[in-house]
Amino acid sequence: MRTHFPVIVVGAGPAGLLLSHLLHLQGIESIVLESRSRAAVESTIRAGVLEQGTMDILNETGVGERMRREGALHHGIELAFGGQRHRIALTDLTGRAITVYAQHEVIKDLIAARAAVHGDMLFDVSDVSVHDIDSTQPSVQFRVNGQVRRLTCDFIAGCDGFHGVCRPAMPASVREEYQRVYPFGWFGVLVEAPPSSDELIYAAHERGFALISTRSPTVQRMYFQCDPSERAEAWSDERIWHELHTRTESHDGWRLKEGPIFQKSVIAMRSFVCTPMQYGRLFLAGDSAHIVPPTGAKGMNLAVADVWRLARALDDFFHRDDEAGLRGYSEAALKRIWRAEHFSYWMTRMMHRLDDAPPFEQQMQRSELEYVVSSRAASLMLAENYVGLPIA
Ligand code: FAD
Ligand code: DHB
Repeated sequence: MRTHFPVIVVGAGPAGLLLSHLLHLQGIESIVLESRSRAAVESTIRAGVLEQGTMDILNETGVGERMRREGALHHGIELAFGGQRHRIALTDLTGRAITVYAQHEVIKDLIAARAAVHGDMLFDVSDVSVHDIDSTQPSVQFRVNGQVRRLTCDFIAGCDGFHGVCRPAMPASVREEYQRVYPFGWFGVLVEAPPSSDELIYAAHERGFALISTRSPTVQRMYFQCDPSERAEAWSDERIWHELHTRTESHDGWRLKEGPIFQKSVIAMRSFVCTPMQYGRLFLAGDSAHIVPPTGAKGMNLAVADVWRLARALDDFFHRDDEAGLRGYSEAALKRIWRAEHFSYWMTRMMHRLDDAPPFEQQMQRSELEYVVSSRAASLMLAENYVGLPIA
């Protein structure tokens, strides 16, 4: 049994799986260690919006075929408030688009690509711990099939999400963490129904935010702002539809199409950044280093941008004996991350009911919404952030 890999990737989310796929294309071997089962990873309902740059990377690296076929290419989004809907023409404004394609479908495509070339992936591992990250030969210990194993490597990629073990393995003295926890969450549902709209609707209403997204011609994804401590099971379908209808109602007679709700969950919201994203031979990527509230649809896209950069830096290290990319990884990645942090925070503050804000700020919020939908400059600012700045 092999005991050394150039790169050990902890976590089989979008960050870890895409990194190991990119490394493979560059001729660098890796193993992915994941604490959940393959079935759980492939079925967890999360993000849905892929930026243009994410679409391009999936296409260019040979894992975009099903996304092109089954995903929905969108050229605009709508902002709804005051009983009216306003289109932000993403493509007219920026020349770029987004694709709505579920994160777990991206994950399935990446796992299939790794499996097709017999890439090493271990699911259902437990008790993962990282060691000797400040040496040139770090190691990762874990338990699988009842046995404790230890693998050595040249680099560890910490792609194990916000609750993983890699970030805490960096000494607290070198880490600086920035955080904001929001006093609201999202209630998310999956509905068996046809789409109600050709484009995503982001609605700001006195009762709170609502978002109408899609998954397929027969399955729709919807969210509405709720108390973060809300229990999803406590909500009847009738009560959910009442909130969604009220918050998205429009003076032009448009109405949301109902259908059986087959999945409900409550999502807490936070902004978080850990800097630096590297210590010794451990590099963090994706949610292990940063979290955004989902309003800007940036989380998965940031994970993709991080590993794109990290894969190139590792390629330079292994094939050109050039460490500059690895040394500059954290600083360069954080530039994009802070931009997305600001955009996600700004969208969140503009679109949600802010019970903590004084009436003055609520008037500011309304004025900002009106400006964003009426000024080309302001619409463009939203659009260029939403479709994603080019991945450098
Ligand atoms: P994760 O997807 O969290 O993957 C980490 C993996 O590591 C997991 O599989 C986990 O099981 C595993 N792991 C954890 N600990 C260990 C350990 N100790 N050992 C081994 N494995 C471990 N983003 C967008 O871009 N667009 C959107 O539209 C969007 N909408 C969202 C909607 C919702 C409701 C939510 C919750 C999130 C949304 N996001 C969105 C965010 C997006 O889902 C995340 O940013 C993305 O999953 C990050 O990918 P990741 O690979 O970094 O982390
Ligand atoms: C979806 C999620 C988001 O966070 C968002 O901003 C838009 C769409 C979705 O799950 O479809």
